[in-house]
Amino acid sequence: MIKKYCFGNVFKTESVVKNINVSTDKVPYFNIETKDDEIVLNYNLDSNDAIYGLGEVIRGINKRGWIYKSLCEDAFPVHESRTGSYAAHNFLIVSGVKTFGVYFDTPTAITYDIAFTDIDLMTIKACKDFDLYIVEGKDELDIVKQFREIIGQSYIPPFFAFGFAQSRWGYKCKEDLLRIANDYEKCNMPLDMINIDIDCMDDYKDFTFNDTFDDAKAIFEGLKERGIRVVPIVDAAIKKDDTYDVYNDCLANKACCVDKDGNPYVVGVWPGDSLLPDYLSANGREWFGAQYKRLLDLGIEAFWNDMNEPSLFYSRHRINEAFTLAGESANKNLSLQEFWNVTGAISALPNNIEDYKEFYHNVDGKLVCHYDVHNLYGYNMVRSASEYFKKYNPKKRYLIYSRSSFIGSHRYGGIWTGDNASWWSQLLLEVSQLPGLNMCGFIYSGADLGGFGESSTEDLMIRWLQFGIFVPLFRNHSSFYTRLQEFCYLKRKEIYANLLTVRYALVPYLYNAYINAVYNNSMLFTPLSFIYKNDSRVTDIQDQLMFGNDIMLAPIYTQNTKGRYVYLPERMLEVRMTSSSKYETRVLEKGDHFIEVPFDEIVFFVKEGSVIPVSHAKKNIADINYNDLYAIRFNNNDNEVELYQEIDDEIVLKKVSLK
Ligand code: GLC
Repeated sequence: MIKKYCFGNVFKTESVVKNINVSTDKVPYFNIETKDDEIVLNYNLDSNDAIYGLGEVIRGINKRGWIYKSLCEDAFPVHESRTGSYAAHNFLIVSGVKTFGVYFDTPTAITYDIAFTDIDLMTIKACKDFDLYIVEGKDELDIVKQFREIIGQSYIPPFFAFGFAQSRWGYKCKEDLLRIANDYEKCNMPLDMINIDIDCMDDYKDFTFNDTFDDAKAIFEGLKERGIRVVPIVDAAIKKDDTYDVYNDCLANKACCVDKDGNPYVVGVWPGDSLLPDYLSANGREWFGAQYKRLLDLGIEAFWNDMNEPSLFYSRHRINEAFTLAGESANKNLSLQEFWNVTGAISALPNNIEDYKEFYHNVDGKLVCHYDVHNLYGYNMVRSASEYFKKYNPKKRYLIYSRSSFIGSHRYGGIWTGDNASWWSQLLLEVSQLPGLNMCGFIYSGADLGGFGESSTEDLMIRWLQFGIFVPLFRNHSSFYTRLQEFCYLKRKEIYANLLTVRYALVPYLYNAYINAVYNNSMLFTPLSFIYKNDSRVTDIQDQLMFGNDIMLAPIYTQNTKGRYVYLPERMLEVRMTSSSKYETRVLEKGDHFIEVPFDEIVFFVKEGSVIPVSHAKKNIADINYNDLYAIRFNNNDNEVELYQEIDDEIVLKKVSLK
């Protein structure tokens, strides 16, 4: 049962698509205090209560013991002391003495102090305008299901999106793309996508390519014939340059955010001075979405949206003020305070909250201050593309994923979790982010495999790959200043080539589980505590996950370890795969086991009564042949299973025989 309570008059985020009558009852569970400019909700925590959800935020699966702020930010680098993230996902479940779900539907800042200030208290501070949904159900999974029903069906990408993607900020020209394609091929490593980052643009202008892409269409077609799609980046802001047609068109269409006097608001991002398209206005969305035609006409079918929190390096007027102050201070013997004033003015430039308060969206003829709707910016950027794709080719599925997001954007695209680092802790972070994201509707998601910032080590790449093969968005991405981490440039080539094929072996299972999670409003990655309700041992397990209904994962995320302890909540079949067609199994009883995981094996655990469909594919997604699948079984002799498949852009449930 879901009840809705309204506080003030909230801007409609359109995150909830189902109409729910407003309740006039007293809000249960919370003690609510109304202060001058905020509403504070307190909940007394029992020592065994766990808090799940909040989507992308950092820390463990159980969010207890930290303070989290929902205000989308360029959270580079992601680390354990942060309170914010690139996204704002305001759904959580309290699980314990009382179990219920809570969704705060508000487009602006909200803070969750979950036993941080007071170990026994959860304090949520929101502005005065929000809709509150309280979800009651028979258990956590039922609460998730009910919540997901009201926010609408999650995005389903095209089938090729389940292949492997290689990315790096640093590919500069068509030769770089061809080199990656060739080097993966030489190493017999499967590859489905190569991401194109900002250096491939002409002067960081969206929807353009630099001169090396002399015949972009032919280059992309050539790669596609080899089974490789290119995935260009599309940044949120548009370069201010009157020789750039997109910029001129943006002005002519009045499609950008404006200052209080109605003049285009100028900010700095990669291209220098830029305009922020007004994704919150129907006009701005329609205008920006239509720009994708330039890329779609080149045969491109996949995109990533970036810098859309929005990330601002500066606003034009604030940088002018800071540099004027710096100029005036030159050659002066500054007092300490004067020195701090200068350095402070410069360090306050990026992502300054005051800038967010200075520009406006035009929503249905009314100017709306950006700060009040900040968390909807990335969401509506993805929506603008998705709405245009439907017009461009209503039958086709396109791949799109975004850095910033809000509940609601899960209907339009996937997400990646932003600029993580090549640290072991961030591999574990991905394990804990996935269930939280699934609860909020984001099923097509994943972290930068191997870590974006800092240099990765080869053992971290192997361990991350051993987990990454299960994650829907399977992309190795890194920054230009780190050492190369493409699998084809690392030493243990044979291991990577084999382990990558295990992904393709399991895609029939992954795709089927993915579609089931979307259609049934269930989770692809589920904490064990949601499933094994009567087993007190699983409550605290934060480094094992159920993957679909039949498989349990227990990744290795520490360096210099040969294996790890795994708790089996029931008798399971341990599966060790070394490639798409080679595996060994043994039955393990319920309880604790030390499981060795050599570098060249992918280890997972199958529930009794399950049959896992497996493909022999070695090359890419197109190499998966549903007429030639085999089975890994644990006390299930079915020779036929029903699997969701994508056939001619349609998703069909079809019987498949297994050898
Ligand atoms: C941002 C993105 C990162 C990208 C870089 C350059 O930091 O998060 O993925 O590589 O910008 O475009």
